Amino acid sequence: MPFCTKRCYYCAFNTAPLDSPEVMERYVRALLSEIEIACSVEWAPRIQIGSVFFGGGTPSLLSAEDLAAVLARLRSAFRLDPDAEVTVECNPESVDAPKLAAYRAAGVNRVSLGVQSLDDSMLQRIGRLHDAAGARRAFGDVRAAGFDNVSVDLMYGLPGLDLDRWRAGVAGVFDWQPEHLSAYGLSLDAGSLWGATGVPDLPPEDGVVAQYWALAHLAADRGFEHYEISNYARPGYRSRHNLVYWHRGEYLAFGPGGAGFVGDVRYTNVKPTPRYCAEIEAGRLPIDAFERPDERQALAERLMLGLRLVVGVPEAWIDARVAGDRALAGRVAEWRRRGLLESTDGRARLSEAGFLVSDALFVDFL
Ligand SMILES: C[S@@+](CC[C@H](N)C(=O)[O-])C[C@H]1O[C@@H](n2cnc3c(N)ncnc32)[C@H](O)[C@@H]1O
Ligand code: SF4
Repeated sequence: MPFCTKRCYYCAFNTAPLDSPEVMERYVRALLSEIEIACSVEWAPRIQIGSVFFGGGTPSLLSAEDLAAVLARLRSAFRLDPDAEVTVECNPESVDAPKLAAYRAAGVNRVSLGVQSLDDSMLQRIGRLHDAAGARRAFGDVRAAGFDNVSVDLMYGLPGLDLDRWRAGVAGVFDWQPEHLSAYGLSLDAGSLWGATGVPDLPPEDGVVAQYWALAHLAADRGFEHYEISNYARPGYRSRHNLVYWHRGEYLAFGPGGAGFVGDVRYTNVKPTPRYCAEIEAGRLPIDAFERPDERQALAERLMLGLRLVVGVPEAWIDARVAGDRALAGRVAEWRRRGLLESTDGRARLSEAGFLVSDALFVDFL
């Protein structure tokens, strides 16, 4: 969903303000057509779909009718499992009880609520349209609509965030008793306002590291499993959809900037929404680029994706990657010595400390 009411200052996602209802109408028409065009390939009816994720941008700007139409189109185009996990990312200010109930009636069974912080001054500072009370109200509405699988997004490393305020926010969210929590360290990417202008008062690196560890400990105390670098879940509530990405499974993507992986081909849709709509209106799939990773790239992908997970990867994959590369073998041995990479039962996995420096480690696998 390539629209938001307002762009948050840290955000570089492919999203723009929604100018008018006509823009949304044109987009939804294009999205439905894209699914139609994609399913005209000969093998489409054999595609079994185990999960659907409405991501953004702000998918909760979609009316329940439009969302139901998209799900209906997916059901008619492909084989959608009756118990498929169907998630919608929701912004607190754009949902209310009736809308959530209608989403649920349409087949949504999981909500991911973007809360980011429970501190009103911080929410204002990062450009959010809701306050902490609004986030709490939205979470209550989600529960009241009958959702028993709810995730909350939080961010750390934010400007001016100190450890006590971070701990209080995390504890406050755990008190709501969500099933799942995603917590992202702030990244300043080109394309965001802060990426372009910079932002004062960022916490020092050791402060961000302390926030990471505080969350890891609080989550463990509350019975959450730290199952992926940025994700925590109560037992049985890991995100089935995201696990497909991390296991390097196949997925289709629809919408501007969407990235899919089918067979051995990775593809990306064009990003600007008007161009995306124009391509589809001309009867073409809006694919901007595609590539077929070779064997070496595929192995690097498997390692980088699989090591994001606490279950890790088969040891043999690491052996295959370091074979004949003495420098890399030495670096991997060093990770083991420092306790960043551990092995048991033929599998290698990053430790909590390894998760924290995973980006630096993964560069070596490329
Ligand atoms: C695709 S965004 C959409 C979520 C929804 N629109 C919202 O804002 O609540 C998913 C999540 O990415 C995280 N995020 C976005 N930009 C980020 C950044 N620059 N650094 C770290 N996390 C970020 C936020 O936690 C956000 O909830
Ligand atoms: S964080 Fe969410 S609401 Fe804010 S600009 Fe990004 S996608 Fe939109």
